[in-house]
Amino acid sequence: MKYEKEINRRKTFAIISHPDAGKTTLTEKFLLFGGAIQTAGAVKSNKIKKHATSDFMEIERQRGISVATSVMTFEYQDNLINLLDTPGHKDFAEDTYRTLTAVDSVVLVIDSVNGVEDQTRRLMEVCRMRDTPVIVFINKMDRDGKNRFDLLEEIEKELKLSLHPLTWPINSGKDFKGVYNLHDKSLLLFTANTKANEEGSVAIEDLADARLDAKVGESDANILREDVELIEGVYGKLNPADYLAGKVAPVFFGSAINNFGVKELLDTFIDIAPVPRDRETSSRNVEAGEDKFSGFIFKIHANLDPKHRDRIAFLRVCSGRFERNKYFHHVRLDRDLRFSNPYSFLARSKDVIDDAYAGDVVGLFDTGNFKIGDTLTEGEDFYFTGIPSFSPEIFKELVNKDPMKTKQLEKGIRQLTDEGVAQLFTQFGGNKKIIGCVGELQFEVIQYRLLHEYSAACEFRTLPFFKACWLTSTDDKKLEDFLRFKQSNSAEDKDGNPVYLAQSEWFLNTEIQNNPDIQFHFTSEIH
Ligand code: G4P
Repeated sequence: MKYEKEINRRKTFAIISHPDAGKTTLTEKFLLFGGAIQTAGAVKSNKIKKHATSDFMEIERQRGISVATSVMTFEYQDNLINLLDTPGHKDFAEDTYRTLTAVDSVVLVIDSVNGVEDQTRRLMEVCRMRDTPVIVFINKMDRDGKNRFDLLEEIEKELKLSLHPLTWPINSGKDFKGVYNLHDKSLLLFTANTKANEEGSVAIEDLADARLDAKVGESDANILREDVELIEGVYGKLNPADYLAGKVAPVFFGSAINNFGVKELLDTFIDIAPVPRDRETSSRNVEAGEDKFSGFIFKIHANLDPKHRDRIAFLRVCSGRFERNKYFHHVRLDRDLRFSNPYSFLARSKDVIDDAYAGDVVGLFDTGNFKIGDTLTEGEDFYFTGIPSFSPEIFKELVNKDPMKTKQLEKGIRQLTDEGVAQLFTQFGGNKKIIGCVGELQFEVIQYRLLHEYSAACEFRTLPFFKACWLTSTDDKKLEDFLRFKQSNSAEDKDGNPVYLAQSEWFLNTEIQNNPDIQFHFTSEIH
């Protein structure tokens, strides 16, 4: 294997969290350790604040930031780390879900005060679909959080995840004294705003050591001894294979804003997180170390300048080596394309690169050739599987307000849905165009962008659906009959696949029960 050395030093991951748990802060600390930025505050939060619902300048500004910080690449201890950013706002959750298909592992940040929150649950569901290895960082230990044992139980139960603590906290809030590292048996004492050094660390091989009492006080020392005995009894030693299989998640406690517990997290991440993993395709398993290049598009970002329609397609390299100016095969279009200005995202600037290896993300200048899920190879015909499209949650009819601009509207909506901004369904018979999104904000973005980028005015009419299910059946006739009978609830997606639009959970369950020969799928494969 020609590129083994390069590929095996790469780690591609995402930090995920419910908004406000500390993802941006932790990202920034990682970048400081990696030397990719020099000062705190350099990473702009890509949060879209609540008031942004009607503030399009804010949305545009955020789109700018999210291109710049989409992928942050830095080196740490000889490893090349690709950190993929995910939008925090729940209305853009689908973008996050797709980004998760391009990573090999995740770090999940949980706020010790709030515990498991909505977005945490949904993000973990997506991780579970792919058995993505997870490391948990319990943040904000400097605040009065939940009881640590209760918190672990809550996470295990709510996220259906087996945990394995690798550090253990001594109190929280203003009494927070630090963490004990169960792995290398050292005590890390908490001081607010610690710099990236190890001054606060004391090696304590034996917890009976009287230095522990001297450092944290007798009472807390005794509680720690009891806790550790209990934890070691319950959890034993971490089996890295269980972590890599997505079965067990190591847990760290800390405070991102104080840069506390972050280095332990990063060092362990470097140690155990997976290198680029093998991936399933429509025809075979592709190993990252294969000599031949392959990759897929997981995100498309439109140019901010409406005069230039070109877009940036984000390619995850899955095997071999990507090269500038070399012809690669675009499987869906059955065409060979080459890229003269591919760029990487080193240190947040867009640098044109000559090559990239499995694990890397490359930005490709696109004039409309790509859709999310497209595969590039060195000639072989396959596509990567497991890039799902999730059911939208809000459905609206697209109403054209200017018949003179029908063409522009159609082109615009096609391109925006290619980008993954929304999903488009066409009702059978009626030809009604239905746009499905995860959040209200997306509709505003679509309306705004159609007008500003395509000069097409539209409005939306709310429809009473709550979920789209993709339908398959081995009995074509039954499926056809069902679609005809349920015409007002039936549509086809952009690729012509039949979809049932359900008004409520009750209707959906009734249809599932009444139609045993039809399979209702809650996600669809993009390819
Ligand atoms: P997010 O990207 O997950 O949405 O979270 P972000 O890092 O922006 O952090 C959310 C808020 O939590 C920020 O405060 C941040 O300073 C704070 N925070 C992060 N880590 C810790 C921690 O370890 N302890 C405590 N006490 N707070 C923490 P903010 O007031 O919302 O924003 P800012 O004005 O400080 O930027």
